[in-house]
Amino acid sequence: MSMDGKHRSFQEQVEKQPDYRYDVRNEIIINNDTMIFEEEYNVKVLMLNGSAKANGNTYASLLEVGRQLEKEGIEYEIFQMGGEPVRDCLGCGQCTENGCVFADDKVNEFVAKAKEADGFVFGTPVYYAHPSGRVMSFLDRAFYSSGSAAFAFKPGASVAVARRGGTTASFDAMNKYFGICQMPVAGSTYWNQVHGAVPGEACQDEEGMQTMRNLARNLAWMMKCFAAGKAAGVELPQTERDYKTNFIR
Ligand SMILES: Cc1cc2nc3c(=O)[nH]c(=O)nc-3n(C[C@H](O)[C@H](O)[C@H](O)COP(=O)(O)O)c2cc1C
Repeated sequence: MSMDGKHRSFQEQVEKQPDYRYDVRNEIIINNDTMIFEEEYNVKVLMLNGSAKANGNTYASLLEVGRQLEKEGIEYEIFQMGGEPVRDCLGCGQCTENGCVFADDKVNEFVAKAKEADGFVFGTPVYYAHPSGRVMSFLDRAFYSSGSAAFAFKPGASVAVARRGGTTASFDAMNKYFGICQMPVAGSTYWNQVHGAVPGEACQDEEGMQTMRNLARNLAWMMKCFAAGKAAGVELPQTERDYKTNFIR
């Protein structure tokens, strides 16, 4: 970030952004016209474990992402869907600003957390070569009721975990939520897949774990860039919604 040789404190800039959440430790140092500063990014990643197994392979994969995020100075939470029944979307159209009209599972609780989060990782076990039915039902309702309010313009990534096959198809399906909701997608050094059958085996997939760590690094980098952009006054893009055609009219 160029400062044209002017020594101005980063705090000064931040103060011009009263709603901006940023925790600054040091003042700026100018070095070769580059502003260098140490900072804490007060941003948070919310992850979703789409397996009913709280400590299964999906969790182990997300945990590897989380550990690396922590090293990058970014806080995280792994939200457990658990084994309770999850409703699917009925298309009833009764969503409100509080989320889905059905409040008898964890979807609205997740949405409330999503509104406070700055980035996302959705993990799923692979079932019959697709994401688990419960994670799709859960995310359908979260996004249909609260997509723009909770997720738009925040980076996301998905992770698919399988014994052997169906990871890329599952990864593709999960990534569909990001594209329709104006969410930039973080990548890694392979498609985000980890292999393991029995809980715990995922940790033995060394390339899978490496993919998780690189995903975390890339997501952290994106989130820091977005935070820096916001601090510098870069506004969110305008969105047109004038047209919605259903092919026949
Ligand atoms: C109903 C069901 C379907 C499954 N289908 C597949 C599959 O299509 N491909 C595969 O490689 N593994 C499949 N598996 C294995 C799981 O993806 C694998 O055990 C994974 O590690 C489970 O993650 P978890 O421990 O987080 O639940 C299936 C498991 C279940 C229970």
